Amino acid sequence: MLDLDAEVAAGQLAELTTRIADLAAGHPVRDVLDIGAGTGTGTFALLRRFPEASVTAIDTSDEMLRHLQDSATRHGLADRIRPLRADLDEAWPATGQADLVWASSSMHHMADPDRVLRDIHATLRPGGLLTVIEMEQMPRFLPDDLGFGRPGMEARCHVLLDRARAEHLPHIGSDWPSRLTAAGFTIRESREVTVGLQSPLPETAIRYAYATLGRIRSRLADDLSPEDRSTLDALLAKDSPNALHTRSDLQVLSTRAVWIATRPE
Ligand SMILES: C[S@@+](CC[C@H](N)C(=O)[O-])C[C@H]1O[C@@H](n2cnc3c(N)ncnc32)[C@H](O)[C@@H]1O
Repeated sequence: MLDLDAEVAAGQLAELTTRIADLAAGHPVRDVLDIGAGTGTGTFALLRRFPEASVTAIDTSDEMLRHLQDSATRHGLADRIRPLRADLDEAWPATGQADLVWASSSMHHMADPDRVLRDIHATLRPGGLLTVIEMEQMPRFLPDDLGFGRPGMEARCHVLLDRARAEHLPHIGSDWPSRLTAAGFTIRESREVTVGLQSPLPETAIRYAYATLGRIRSRLADDLSPEDRSTLDALLAKDSPNALHTRSDLQVLSTRAVWIATRPE
């Protein structure tokens, strides 16, 4: 699902890394850290933008890092990536000084994000850049009225998901600008990155819709009303007359909040 998300948002990510390169102008970007790298969305976008860079991809999950390394090998980029298994809740790993740090959808996972931000600050060279990205609106795919089931099914799913996420991830929706400033950063830029695709969707976006809504279905399971559950099942069953890929009103809409900050010189 993360890889599909990367493909669907590729254009927006490329724009964002271009902006980071503009802000870094005059300073070489060679040593990059991707915090909570997952399957490498940021790692690969940054390697493309900064041809002299190598990326240390930090994640607590061996499975994510294995996936990232396999992709790197397939794309001939393995020699520019250092996968590093570390739980940043435990301690900051030995990384060496970084020119650029990227933390996408990962800071809200940290038990103590303020401590991690201070560690990032200490690791960045003066004048180096930190980009923090947090999902503001999780991806939506469906119109309110599907023509069957009770209208508003997807919105109800998101209410349940937001509730579950808020219970498990207390830092979601934090005031990141204040936290960045408190850790010693100066914010250079705040922006919103929106992915908005309308029908007819490319094949990747349809697969992304299946993957995301399928995950929602399994996450919410018994929390869904029987009616919403059967609506979602009908959308996800590929041979159903109501299956997602048969719809001409499928869309992708998501918004990320982005802060680009610097460690003052
Ligand atoms: C939602 S994923 C985001 C992945 C990627 N940055 C992206 O934008 O697609 C969050 C990642 O943070 C990692 N993560 C969560 N807590 C962590 C921790 N304490 N230390 C290191 N990585 C962590 C997870 O394993 C996961 O891969």
